[in-house]
Amino acid sequence: MKPGEFTFAMVKPTAVKLGRLVPILNEIDLAGFRVIAMKMTRLSKSQAERFYAVHKDRPFYQGLVEFMSSGPVVAMVLQKENAVQDFRKLIGNTNPELAEEGTIRKKFALSVQENAIHGSDSDDNACIEANFFFSQFEIFPINEQY
Ligand code: RTP
Ligand code: MG
Repeated sequence: MKPGEFTFAMVKPTAVKLGRLVPILNEIDLAGFRVIAMKMTRLSKSQAERFYAVHKDRPFYQGLVEFMSSGPVVAMVLQKENAVQDFRKLIGNTNPELAEEGTIRKKFALSVQENAIHGSDSDDNACIEANFFFSQFEIFPINEQY
């Protein structure tokens, strides 16, 4: 897949636990993203540590690792033109109080930490994060051969 055409997303534990998965998927669908890989799984602490390793020196890191490994998550790869930027716009600000009306975090986040969903912040990270969760045989890009 070409950079720019996909992003990686993950519905976080509280959103899954509170039954928000399907409403969130509906928002993602209405915004024009196609799900091309998806799995429900539970991160171990060490997997959560690795996934968020860029934040290892931040004060919220330990709490974030505990939270992200506290229950099942739903990981997915989403296809769309300009996917990374458009998806960050769709999910909104990290802090739901600052997120714009209509964004997924405004609608479904409980707090800065329990903010419903993750979205990659660059094409490079979309690639790294998709490969963290999925093998090449588990991603099904929509193309002429589909
Ligand atoms: P994400 O990576 O999950 O899509 O979120 P983001 O880019 O909007 O925010 P980032 O700065 O990458 O932070 C990663 C996640 O850490 C938690 N966090 N807690 N307590 C705090 O001040 C704080 N700040 C960040 C959130 O779960 C955030 O999404
Ligand atoms: Mg981030």
